[in-house]
Amino acid sequence: MEIIIQPDPEAAARLAAHIIAKRLREKPDLVLGLATGNTMEKVYGMLAETHEKQNLSFARCTTFNLDEYIGLPENDPNSYRTYMNTRLFDKVDIPIENTHMPNGNAADFRAESERYEQAILAAGGIDLQLLGIGRDGHIGFNEPMSALRSRTREKALTPETLLHNAGPFGAPENVPRRAITMGVGTILDSRRCLMLATGAGKAAIVAKALEGPITAMVSASALQLHPHCTVIVDEPAASKLQGKPYYRWIFEHEPEWKEFRVE
Ligand code: GLP
Repeated sequence: MEIIIQPDPEAAARLAAHIIAKRLREKPDLVLGLATGNTMEKVYGMLAETHEKQNLSFARCTTFNLDEYIGLPENDPNSYRTYMNTRLFDKVDIPIENTHMPNGNAADFRAESERYEQAILAAGGIDLQLLGIGRDGHIGFNEPMSALRSRTREKALTPETLLHNAGPFGAPENVPRRAITMGVGTILDSRRCLMLATGAGKAAIVAKALEGPITAMVSASALQLHPHCTVIVDEPAASKLQGKPYYRWIFEHEPEWKEFRVE
């Protein structure tokens, strides 16, 4: 796992966007896993800008989002489909049929979960999976005690998640109680993971997930098992990490990061 500390949320998002843009230029038919949440808004804004100003093309890219609320109409302003369309898909040249989300209105969630897993496989697997982290350590909507080998399925959300995600819904009781999400095992199957966490509110869970024991109580801790996982945090989110001097040293000295450093 590589942990990169950036001064602020802008710099952290910029680095995440640079990594994605670089991979997409190297492999125009990239299979990209996407995440939602406030943290990602800056990344999508920067990718849309890179598309517009520096000809970054998504024309051959395929995307798979981590999760979707259950029971919200697709065009609901708070569905993750609407989030993705408005923040990224409508602003770049990706064919909308290349953008995949689990169907939160499926008649049969077992069948829908299996369909989603098969679609990922048929696309050749996910090359690069973008991830945020919930305050309870969830990745996607893998709430605490999600099996570390879980696959796409329906999950009940925790009261903490309902509270944190309440903003655009007006109140926690308006947030859908359930979601359909890639499993921890599905995420670990992607060839590379890229996690982004910013803000002091994430410091405690970031330290637990990255430096604590691997446990189903903190789904993101499973990323310690991933052979190629990059985590980008800003200073406030990094504030409880023990290994900061080492992480900084790696970023400053390893040749692979040279092009991303502000010299
Ligand atoms: C939601 C999403 C997660 C995301 C998390 C963090 O719950 N399902 O994929 O990582 O929010 O969101 P934020 O960036 O708003 O803190």
